[in-house]
Amino acid sequence: MRISLAEAVRLLKQGEVVAIPTETVYGLAADASNAAAVAKIYATKERPANNPLIVHIGDAGQVSDWASELAPLAQKLAAAFWPGPFTLVLPAREEVCLAVRAGEPTVALRVPSHPVTRQLLRESGLGLAAPSANKYTQLSPTTAAHVEASLGDHIPVLDGGACQVGIESTIVSVMGDEWQLLRPGMIAESAITLVAEKPGQIFRETPKAPGQHLLHYSPRTPCLLFDSRQALADYALSQPQAAALLVGNSNLTGIKNSIALSPEPALAAEQLYAALHTLDAVQAAVILIESPPDTPDWAALRDRLQRAAYQPPAQ
Ligand code: TXA
Ligand code: MG
Repeated sequence: MRISLAEAVRLLKQGEVVAIPTETVYGLAADASNAAAVAKIYATKERPANNPLIVHIGDAGQVSDWASELAPLAQKLAAAFWPGPFTLVLPAREEVCLAVRAGEPTVALRVPSHPVTRQLLRESGLGLAAPSANKYTQLSPTTAAHVEASLGDHIPVLDGGACQVGIESTIVSVMGDEWQLLRPGMIAESAITLVAEKPGQIFRETPKAPGQHLLHYSPRTPCLLFDSRQALADYALSQPQAAALLVGNSNLTGIKNSIALSPEPALAAEQLYAALHTLDAVQAAVILIESPPDTPDWAALRDRLQRAAYQPPAQ
């Protein structure tokens, strides 16, 4: 159900959930200071309560409402990458609702750059907890129609068009003067290293949940990942019912349904989830995926594709 910005503000203030656009993916938002509202996010997504949420804020000035400290390193990163597809995990203020941080002593914060989201944050005056607006472990949505397909027509959606970054934000944890990459995204690790003036460390256990659940971002159709176009093409000979997701040129014979992503990583990211949604809808026996090059500029896409193709070990 598409709604206006004014309706979105009203519903959010009343403690309801609203699907909102951001530049990365659509989020399922609720007032982050209202535990009952946040509980509705988990219920709607069918997401386990031990997986914490990102709080979206209007500007870096609001960090102190949520985080107990903003170390100089965190300040530098915020100044460099906000507004944008970048999330900082910082020590949380005690009052931050436990449902938002899933009991962690930290809170994840992001200032999005999407103009509609920014207006919503400004007009509501709220911090908005928002995970991606899909059922747990399903593909992330990059259009309002994707949201409705996953969560149902009754979910109020603020339509802001197709998301331009296309994959979820880069997540960085900052403790004092150390940082750690928790989730790769289109803000590259090398860009963070440049601003931080030092490489990331591993100073915390893989945080309990960070959506780094391996079965994340999965289409319903099984996916298989191939290191080369040739290996994919060889396999396709024995699998005429397969669909294929390629990177770069679209030369592939014998497969009816295939989509080629741009050879440019930023454009390929923008296209990725829509392509997977489309191929998933074809109901092929399997989606054959060509791995992008193993270079830093493709790291975030490779991460998402590896997760899409993850198969739990046989019991
Ligand atoms: O681009 C994005 O980040 C999108 C849009 C809507 O902003 N949101 C998103 O949310 O991807 P979600 O819930 O699908 O992923 C949030 C990730 C999860 O992996 C979660 O575990 C991690 O952020 N996270 C949240 N709070 C955390 C915390 N305190 N410590 C470590 N990881 C945290
Ligand atoms: Mg998600």
